[in-house]
Amino acid sequence: MISERECYVYIVLPGETEPVTAGRLLISETGNGEYAGRFVYGKSYLSRANAAAIDPVELHLSDRVFETGLMGGMFGALRDASPDLWGRILIEKHLNRTDLSEMDYLLNSPDDRIGALGFGLNKVPPAPKRSFNKSIDLEKLQRAVEAVTSSGYVAGSAAQRAEELLLIGTSMGGARPKAVIQDEDALWIAKFAHHSDRYDMAAAEHAMLTLARDCGINAAESRTVKIAGRNVLLVKRFDREKRGADYCRYRMISSLTALRTDDNPLNRDKWSYILIADELRRFSSEPAKDARELFRRMVFNSLITNTDDHLRNHAFLARDKWRLAPAYDLLPFPMTSTERRDLALVCGKHGRYANVDNLISECPRFMYRPEEAGVIIEDMAKHISAGWYKTARKAGLSDKDCDILRPAFVYPGFYTHGIST
Ligand SMILES: Nc1ncnc2c1ncn2[C@@H]1O[C@H](COP(=O)(O)OP(=O)(O)OP(=O)(O)O)[C@@H](O)[C@H]1O
Ligand SMILES: [Mg+2]
Repeated sequence: MISERECYVYIVLPGETEPVTAGRLLISETGNGEYAGRFVYGKSYLSRANAAAIDPVELHLSDRVFETGLMGGMFGALRDASPDLWGRILIEKHLNRTDLSEMDYLLNSPDDRIGALGFGLNKVPPAPKRSFNKSIDLEKLQRAVEAVTSSGYVAGSAAQRAEELLLIGTSMGGARPKAVIQDEDALWIAKFAHHSDRYDMAAAEHAMLTLARDCGINAAESRTVKIAGRNVLLVKRFDREKRGADYCRYRMISSLTALRTDDNPLNRDKWSYILIADELRRFSSEPAKDARELFRRMVFNSLITNTDDHLRNHAFLARDKWRLAPAYDLLPFPMTSTERRDLALVCGKHGRYANVDNLISECPRFMYRPEEAGVIIEDMAKHISAGWYKTARKAGLSDKDCDILRPAFVYPGFYTHGIST
């Protein structure tokens, strides 16, 4: 039977804390497992003086019907608000089903999703969520994460398991186990240790966010806390801001959406820093600053071998107008190859090669002249070579972990000249 599912899309407008109904999403099956999505803004939403577009590239404020046949009928900005790998595992385990549709994931995901959107079956949005887990609950959360990630998920009674899942239920994206917690003045993403981690990833990520800031990058604020002998990383959410008892919520999209693409490897040629820089010039309120900031991040990722710098790991945020969001999810990947390492995104005329000449080759697209780009790269390389170890130790990494991570920093192939690939 051909199915059709519909839901309302809510939004928290800039500076406000209560959601309003922005429009309706309809996903219909068109046969052969294909889906078509349609979205319309509500008339009363469009008549608001402060109505804001859901995203800056696709769903412009208009009374037309937007249509898409891509991504199971999902529009990019709505897909970004939908849970990713970790959030989907939780929903599947909670409902004990694996045959869920995109609409099911949207409707079953908790309200802590990134950005300003919400979804539901009622025309009137529900009250916003005010209360989140507290730091004091972190030990309980870490145990719940271990129960969910351990093979088979057999520990405890069914009721206890359901409670654990609700406890950590989060629609924040990404693959690593995480939960959202609150302290007096902000919301934080807690990223937990995983039993298969080779080194202390929480401390390593905290160290890299700190090192990035030292290199002039606008990186998310972070800290670590020791829970049952292991570090948990806390990253402050930049898409929420405490306002009295509530939170302002800022619109946010991934670079997948900015480039109108998806995770399908067939679209790999669109996964590119250069294309992000081109695109942001169209909608960022500070295009030159953002393009230059993006250049720094691309150089930083090359110098620390962060090869997991895919399009979901770069975002745009609208507190009021659209800007590049702070940097997040920065991790070194110690590889054995010393000749050539590739980023996840194209970074120059020679593809993804994390190499000084390649990074400079397209620098005008990032609003830099080659001489300026060269100086920035040299400064960052010096800073990282001289500073990574101290920063890592200060962040709590052991000497043994530092030995594992050492090959990630300023690898020899970065300086190979005369590349021909
Ligand atoms: N400080 C932050 N404020 C708001 N949203 C954030 C923040 N940090 C990350 N996010 C959002 O949460 C998602 C998941 O976070 P993150 O990328 O750190 O997790 P991950 O599980 O390590 O991801 P991956 O699957 O790339 O390894 C990001 O893709 C981004 O949309
Ligand atoms: Mg990520």
